[in-house]
Amino acid sequence: MPAWAPDSWTAHDARQQPDYPDAAALRVATDTLRSYPPLVFAGEARNLTAALAEVSAGRGFLLQGGDCAESFAEFHPNTIRDTFRVILQMAVVLTYASKLPVVKLGRMAGQFAKPRSAPTETQAGDTLPAYRGDNVNDIAFTAEGRRPDPQRMIRAYSQAAATLNLLRAFAQGGYANLHQVHRWTHDFLGSSPWSRKYRETADRIGDALDFMRACGIDPETVPQLAQTAFYTSHEALLLPYEQAMARQDSLTGDWYDTSAHFLWIGDRTRFAGSAHVEFLRGIGNPIGLKCGPSLEPDALLRLLDTLNPRRVPGRITLITRYGADKIEAALPRLVRAVTREGHPVVWSCDPMHGNTMQSATGYKTRPFERILAEVRGFFAVHRAEGTHAGGIHAEMTGQNVTECTGGAIDVTEQNLADRYHTHCDPRLNASQSLELAFLLAEMLNEELDARRQAA
Ligand code: PEP
Ligand code: CO
Repeated sequence: MPAWAPDSWTAHDARQQPDYPDAAALRVATDTLRSYPPLVFAGEARNLTAALAEVSAGRGFLLQGGDCAESFAEFHPNTIRDTFRVILQMAVVLTYASKLPVVKLGRMAGQFAKPRSAPTETQAGDTLPAYRGDNVNDIAFTAEGRRPDPQRMIRAYSQAAATLNLLRAFAQGGYANLHQVHRWTHDFLGSSPWSRKYRETADRIGDALDFMRACGIDPETVPQLAQTAFYTSHEALLLPYEQAMARQDSLTGDWYDTSAHFLWIGDRTRFAGSAHVEFLRGIGNPIGLKCGPSLEPDALLRLLDTLNPRRVPGRITLITRYGADKIEAALPRLVRAVTREGHPVVWSCDPMHGNTMQSATGYKTRPFERILAEVRGFFAVHRAEGTHAGGIHAEMTGQNVTECTGGAIDVTEQNLADRYHTHCDPRLNASQSLELAFLLAEMLNEELDARRQAA
């Protein structure tokens, strides 16, 4: 392997990067970031790799979720709390049903940069640079708004730091105490059948905890009951930012990207010779790779050899995103190639990005039944191939939005206009997320039953 350095990516093909008009201003911003504290520590990233290694061995499940794009405008503690809460609810449902540990990973505290299908956007005859996420430019369609401003990286860092601080407090300061399981509900879920089912699960967990307390096992003696491990992730798209957040771990001498625990490479930037692949191959964090319809098995194997030459379990999560109509035909080839070569990966399903469509009313949406159909296809393929359907990657929010159609509290195409708030792609709302968790738990249990019967 050629030598790696935090800036060796600059000699490679760096796509989806903004054209900063002022190089000196960019340098000022990245110098500032380099002088700031890391957001996460290398030891935490290593803990996550170890937890993901368990998932890759079939002994856990990965739950990754959050906004498509975080924004400066929607930065609010209640938004963070609500998304954290629905992730906790989903994790409880999955853990209780499967008895497997669930690794909780937010698409939060740094998920700002967005890859775009075109570098420019045209509205009413005017052409301007595309919106690339709040850490690059503004969503407002004006020349001023769309100009890439490197100072936005500093603001994104600050928002990520404050978000992470709140998430750490929620995870470790009592909110995630299992004795609070009944309180993690959302008022607006009201009479949804899944919300009733959640209360039943919470009752059973409550009973078990009361019994254990009587036996002397309580959050005061067993900290696992009072706290949870919660990790952060985002697409490592904006390379000047990610490079500025790279730090050398004093313990091991290895480099880590301290902007989040887990970073992933998007489907548009995982091509051979990509600057993103070059940057992340030298980074010690666990990483994800989006796998879409254009990825051939041979190309995937070459990427795995580059990104994980020592085949460290937990290092790589393959996040497949085909679309409900393509997954069953396309995924087996990748699974067979990876299994044949003995690469220890986590297989995770992104049922969002291959199922986006335009509603008749003009909104970008995703039908809940198509999302479920891709998840079903994902489980079916892994069952047939004898591999573990190891995780889910969802764009979701704890807010009561109307962005994806369908679900038990039905969102119709007519409803989309009611609360359509996303800065980028349509997200599952809290009710749809909870429903997804119950259906996932069922599919996961079918896999575990089949494994027990085969043993
Ligand atoms: C995303 O996860 O928001 C995304 C852009 O996904 P992909 O790279 O799979 O298209
Ligand atoms: Co998206």
